[in-house]
Amino acid sequence: MKVVRIHEHGGPEVLRYEEVPLPEPGRGEARIKVEAAGVNFTDIYNRIGLYKGTLPYTLGSEAAGVVDAVGPEVTEVKPGDRVAYAMHLGAYAEYVVVPAWRLVPLPPAIDGRTAAAVILQGMTAHYLTHSTYPLKPGETVLVHAAAGGVGRLLVQVAKRLGARVIGTVSSEEKARLAREAGADEVILYTKEDFEEAVNRATGGRGVDVVYDSVGKTTAEKSLNCLRPRGYLVLFGNASGAAPPVDPLALMAKGSLYLTRPTLTHYAGNRAELLQRARAVFDWVASEQVKVRIAKTLPLAEAAEAHRALEGRGVAGKILLLP
Ligand SMILES: NC(=O)c1ccc[n+]([C@@H]2O[C@H](COP(=O)([O-])OP(=O)(O)OC[C@H]3O[C@@H](n4cnc5c(N)ncnc54)[C@H](OP(=O)(O)O)[C@@H]3O)[C@@H](O)[C@H]2O)c1
Repeated sequence: MKVVRIHEHGGPEVLRYEEVPLPEPGRGEARIKVEAAGVNFTDIYNRIGLYKGTLPYTLGSEAAGVVDAVGPEVTEVKPGDRVAYAMHLGAYAEYVVVPAWRLVPLPPAIDGRTAAAVILQGMTAHYLTHSTYPLKPGETVLVHAAAGGVGRLLVQVAKRLGARVIGTVSSEEKARLAREAGADEVILYTKEDFEEAVNRATGGRGVDVVYDSVGKTTAEKSLNCLRPRGYLVLFGNASGAAPPVDPLALMAKGSLYLTRPTLTHYAGNRAELLQRARAVFDWVASEQVKVRIAKTLPLAEAAEAHRALEGRGVAGKILLLP
């Protein structure tokens, strides 16, 4: 079968489209014939070595497809089931073996491409707004990269929960898409100081929570955008890892909270995973949340997908089709 693997860390050129033997599912595992794999910023962290794995390995943490074979003691799925999963490496492939407990059956209303486009980023938007900092009606939230994959979903979910949403983006076109998703105010943080703009927009009070996936270039100013006892939810490193924060600075800036969550710990068992994934599929099926597939590419062109995502040239989801 064909896969996209890395043998070393580096730029998009280290992605190799290769032939490897078809893997057999072991105890508690299932093999999926991949219909579509989602491209996530996490794949770039894996490629460049910010997140470490044992080389060589197949990239990709999210896919949808059909169960093709199961190993011993699998009770969750059977061959022929349509499923999707997130947070397990190996998705840039024609087939992938995944622990069966991680597989989420797809409801009839959700097609494979939509599932591959939303399961990881949708569950992320769900846990950030429902568990890490449960948003309440009337609160104000700042969402960085508001036209991105997770960003657009966060904007839509925050609006559903009754929050006022301020978004940041890098271009006029992305500003239009963030507004279309429901953002009340949009700041072009490449042209304007977002700290000053948020200060103005909130009459000096600050926002209740910042969802910051940009990291290095935004984290420090994000702390300055919070009301006293506000929450900085730092959940990504698109511009590089955020610098360390002195606990005393959290006191001085208003007894602030800082957390650095990951989906792994918010969908760590089958009950929590199914509850989140079903909520996301319900939003999509009932059109409360719209998924934007910005680009689909053949699996062999994974490097092109990485260039587009890193180059900030996409707004929405990129899918790879084996
Ligand atoms: N912790 C978790 O559980 C979890 C789960 C999923 C995703 N994430 C994180 O969420 C973030 C979004 O992921 P995604 O897959 O949906 O990607 P994305 O938001 O579609 O793409 C990243 C965006 O970050 C912005 N950005 C700002 N500075 C950048 C820079 N120097 N280089 C590249 N992009 C920059 C760009 O938007 P502008 O052009 O508008 O600035 C870009 O479109 C990532 O940081 C990812 O790691 C975290």
